[in-house]
Amino acid sequence: SETGSLSIVVLGASGDLAKKKTFPALFNLFHQGFLNPEEVHIFGYARSRISDQELRDKIRGYLVDEKNASEKSEALSKFLQLIKYVSGPYDSEDGFKRLDKAISEHEISKKTSEGSSRRLFYLALPPSVYPPVCKMIKAWCTNKSDLGGWTRIVVEKPFGKDLESAEQLSSQIGSLFDEPQIYRIDHYLGKELVQNMLVLRFANRFFLPLWNRDNIANVQIVFREDFGTEGRGGYFDEYGIIRDIIQNHLLQVLCLVAMEKPVSLKPEHIRDEKVKVLQSVIPIKDEEVVLGQYEGYRDDPTVPNDSNTPTFATTILRIDNERWEGVPFILKAGKAMSSKKADIRIQFKDVPGDIFKCQKQGRNEFVIRLQPSEAMYMKLTVKQPGLEMQTVQSELDLSYKQRYQDVSIPEAYERLILDTIKGDQQHFVRRDELKAAWEIFTPLLHRIGRGEVKSIPYKQGSRGPAEADQLLEKAGYLQTHGYIWIPPTL
Ligand code: BG6
Repeated sequence: SETGSLSIVVLGASGDLAKKKTFPALFNLFHQGFLNPEEVHIFGYARSRISDQELRDKIRGYLVDEKNASEKSEALSKFLQLIKYVSGPYDSEDGFKRLDKAISEHEISKKTSEGSSRRLFYLALPPSVYPPVCKMIKAWCTNKSDLGGWTRIVVEKPFGKDLESAEQLSSQIGSLFDEPQIYRIDHYLGKELVQNMLVLRFANRFFLPLWNRDNIANVQIVFREDFGTEGRGGYFDEYGIIRDIIQNHLLQVLCLVAMEKPVSLKPEHIRDEKVKVLQSVIPIKDEEVVLGQYEGYRDDPTVPNDSNTPTFATTILRIDNERWEGVPFILKAGKAMSSKKADIRIQFKDVPGDIFKCQKQGRNEFVIRLQPSEAMYMKLTVKQPGLEMQTVQSELDLSYKQRYQDVSIPEAYERLILDTIKGDQQHFVRRDELKAAWEIFTPLLHRIGRGEVKSIPYKQGSRGPAEADQLLEKAGYLQTHGYIWIPPTL
């Protein structure tokens, strides 16, 4: 692996994303030995005029919690010492020249070998400033060619609001940096069970013959949160749940569920297959969409009183290819619902000529619980143990907490940031993938924007509008009766 100076620059250093996700992920990487203090320096850049120490104090509280503070205190103070702060506007030459100077000083002091100018820019910023910031980085802050190394840019969604704005953003950034330098984060791709999908599907004989329209009745990919948009209503109202969760996180998961086997494990081969899935999705029909907005959403002073922005949506996607024609892929996401969880639910068709039909509680289902309580379980019918010949729904359960007791599952951001340092783009969204994802949702989003598809009110802490359950039923999903999977306790 590469050695020499590594500069990680967090732009928007005092913002929410940086404090809650970026710095904690960097600290955890440092704590686990993935960031070598002999090589790494971290730079915060933002507009507010604060000192190095003030930035450190701002983020300290997010890096450790009460439980592990004493155990990690030594690592914490070493980590904080690696952080320097540079203040400046996002479109000023002067600010970025100063940033470059600070990075260069660090590089010279740490110059240990060829490739000593590795520069990672993490844009924890609103996308409106991506273009000027990228321009400034390109003009003043790229790696020094005499030292070798590289310059990479990490960006977060929202990548635009629709196809046109996304393409515009892509070409602005694309005119400054090459695709291999651009890392578009979708943090769902960093989750353990999402990363497991490829292994599960292509390393197991069990699944190969079953994974198609002949056997699978429907697929659900569901995200729920048990809290609303508190504190970020202003942002949320402009985007809504489809742009916030479905068009990116759930669609990425869909790609991994539906894609064909890639030629190899090379990132480009994997991403090629994901793009093909997206390109095979046919236009979404209005009658296969149910939107909801929780009651009380508009009480937020930053949300307009007549907002039609959905905080809940169920949409059915149809993949028109040989493997999936006729199988509904139901994507569902909601805020302020009854629980917080995310899972993938593959429901199989009925057994033909089933002699146990009259006693059955439900169909076979294979569920991948992404969070919380990571697990995979297969719901199946067995004989109820005992003297009588009765059937009952049970499960084969692989619960991670139980099976992997000594393993702590890394945070999505830790993994993804490590990938950006290693130069592995497998778990990042390629430009053509992003375009294809916007192509799927843009017509619907425009209809919602014009008020042609309306959000139905639902109660906070509920399952969302009843119409959504009716849509599921219409799509052929059969609910299992009298059975619920309970994550095992240790
Ligand atoms: C973010 C969304 O991308 O993902 C948030 O903007 C959402 O609205 C969050 O709460 C959920 O992420 P996770 O990892 O907690 O499921």
